[in-house]
Amino acid sequence: MSDTLTKRSLRIAVAGATGQIGSALLSKLVKEDVEIVALSRDPSTDRLPHGIAPMVVDFEKPSTLSTAVEGADQLFVAHGTSARQVENEIAVIDAAVAAGVAHIVKVSVMGPPVRLHPFDWHAKIEAHLATRDVGYTLLRPSTFVDILKRRAAFVAQGTWGGAAGEGRVNLIDTRDVADVALAVLLNQENLQAQRAYHLTGPASVSMPEVAAELSRLLGAQISYDHRTPEEHRKVLLEAGLSEMIADLQLGLDRLFKLSVQAETTSTVFELTGQPPRSAFAWLKENLAAFQPVK
Ligand SMILES: NC(=O)c1ccc[n+]([C@@H]2O[C@H](COP(=O)([O-])OP(=O)(O)OC[C@H]3O[C@@H](n4cnc5c(N)ncnc54)[C@H](OP(=O)(O)O)[C@@H]3O)[C@@H](O)[C@H]2O)c1
Repeated sequence: MSDTLTKRSLRIAVAGATGQIGSALLSKLVKEDVEIVALSRDPSTDRLPHGIAPMVVDFEKPSTLSTAVEGADQLFVAHGTSARQVENEIAVIDAAVAAGVAHIVKVSVMGPPVRLHPFDWHAKIEAHLATRDVGYTLLRPSTFVDILKRRAAFVAQGTWGGAAGEGRVNLIDTRDVADVALAVLLNQENLQAQRAYHLTGPASVSMPEVAAELSRLLGAQISYDHRTPEEHRKVLLEAGLSEMIADLQLGLDRLFKLSVQAETTSTVFELTGQPPRSAFAWLKENLAAFQPVK
């Protein structure tokens, strides 16, 4: 394994290339002098930037993963939340280590090891990675501001609420996670290092503060209905969410209520040279989704 690689020779395998972070990363990576291998289960090119063809993989067939990462210098992994996440990520990590990939950049999650999904899943994958002889960077972001989009229909209908109380969370924009990933992937120093970065937005917010900002931006009264976890679970299931997704959301509300992800780190600025995007700026950009239904 070489310690430094010239930028020209870089071949980067991107697992999760069609996802939120993966697609934001690819939109920047295509402008760099690197070779991109975009892993996807989907053979269509519709979800990838123009000119990038998917390297089709099947997580149940390890040979497809080995073929995809062969010759890659680095692997980026941002795997979608699913019950198979641990097995799938471990399979692609093992394929990369066997292929001699020098450095793995994995999107994990900020917070201590706890029983909640996906925190326990990431703890298992991180523990597995730690047993492998490979350089890696764990990107541990706080909760993505994009989760508010999944609340947008409730806001629009006047039924938004939850069990987060007045707790605080420092929401991060997925584009900032992608920008950090880009900076890490293009940095060819100390590839053998094993490290973790904790990524947050510029300031914490509470859900009632988000409601107040939406009210200001929309010129309409938006409120956050305080519920017990049991009441909120019932609302989510009645709205058609699966048990797994309802429990993921309730787990997040518990973290928000206890202000577990309220801290502010300077890591996004230090690694990208740009201040992180704020949750309120994201609300302004995505305001159309929250317009009250008349
Ligand atoms: N949401 C949050 O607030 C938050 C906060 C911190 C960390 N995270 C972590 O960030 C990661 C998600 O990043 P993201 O939002 O960029 O990912 P995403 O958009 O949800 O998914 C990324 C890609 O994963 C691939 N994938 C492979 N197998 C999958 C499966 N069984 N189910 C769903 N997707 C699958 C899909 O690509 P193909 O369809 O092309 O195969 C998908 O486009 C998760 O590991 C999550 O725990 C999330």
